[in-house]
Amino acid sequence: MDNLALVKKAIEARQNAYAPYSNHRVGAAVECEDGSIFLGCNVENCALPLGDCAERVAIYKAVSEGHTQFKKLAVVTGNEEISPPCGACRQVIREFCKDLEIIVANPNQKIKIFTLKELLPNSFGPEELKKGQDE
Ligand code: THU
Repeated sequence: MDNLALVKKAIEARQNAYAPYSNHRVGAAVECEDGSIFLGCNVENCALPLGDCAERVAIYKAVSEGHTQFKKLAVVTGNEEISPPCGACRQVIREFCKDLEIIVANPNQKIKIFTLKELLPNSFGPEELKKGQDE
């Protein structure tokens, strides 16, 4: 799927954002290796730390349906300036991808493209645990 089409999916996902506390509404769309697309939005909670980000919701939906290979991820916020994924989401993406194209956009479809490697350099991934296990 081209970048703009994936951004449009994230804009669609953003419509379901449940963000009554921050009012910061976020949508995400992840494209899997087989072409399937999973959408996510942020879901907040009155017990504030329980809220989750749009990117993680999209990734967890995909993983829970058996998809762990990703091609790219689009994220849309309402910010005029581009607002890339938070650190926790970067690490969750890293669990499944050493690198990934991350397309960040605003609702006017202003787009900036990042790579996971750029957003999370020298990252800690699943391979590290395998290397570091005690006997
Ligand atoms: N949020 C996301 O959905 N993705 C991010 O990468 C950053 C933050 C959400 C979480 C919370 O609901 C709101 O934005 C304010 O932090």
